Amino acid sequence: MDEKGVDESRVDAVFSVLPEDTNIYGNLFGGKLVEWIDRTAAIVAVRHSRKNVVTANIDNLSFLEPIKLGDIVILKAWINYVGNTSMEVQVDVYNERRSNGKPLLACRAYLTYVAIDENGKPTPVPRLILKTEEEKLRFQQALDRKNQRLKMREMILGK
Ligand SMILES: CC(C)(COP(=O)(O)OP(=O)(O)OC[C@H]1O[C@@H](n2cnc3c(N)ncnc32)[C@H](O)[C@@H]1OP(=O)(O)O)[C@@H](O)C(=O)NCCC(=O)NCCS
Repeated sequence: MDEKGVDESRVDAVFSVLPEDTNIYGNLFGGKLVEWIDRTAAIVAVRHSRKNVVTANIDNLSFLEPIKLGDIVILKAWINYVGNTSMEVQVDVYNERRSNGKPLLACRAYLTYVAIDENGKPTPVPRLILKTEEEKLRFQQALDRKNQRLKMREMILGK
């Protein structure tokens, strides 16, 4: 199985908030942002694995800043962790106000994707090459989050 670096799957996506994306107060729907996050992060997982992937988990979705009609939304997504068949992707969402162009961190999310084979069963993905100290730290932190998620899954399944 080959190996890949973090930069080989990184994705930057940009959206502009249109009337159909907002509620009656002119704020971006949270669900619309989750859709953009999931679609962007899934591309990172596909680029890393070059396989079909499913979303296994989305966590730590904190909406930190309102996003309004006409705002420019920038999603920066990259891979933090690779296990045997799963990958954790981080998405940082910035709101670039039209008025001053200053990007504010509006939301951060961690998503776990699992690569699946033609029978829908988990299948191995390339290992992650960690080049920088920051990448090594993010990998360790993602491993801690993975263990928490698996505990949560056991709780939900009543194990
Ligand atoms: C995700 C899924 C493929 C896992 O299948 P499974 O047979 O339970 O898989 P396993 O227990 O063997 O785990 C496979 C990997 O997924 C990870 N995983 C499974 N469930 C997870 C969860 N809830 N959160 C984080 N990671 C999870 C495991 O840690 C493991 O990772 P590793 O191989 O890197 O160590 C399966 O639960 C599934 O198909 N879920 C539905 C996905 C879907 O439809 N998503 C779209 C929702 S709209």
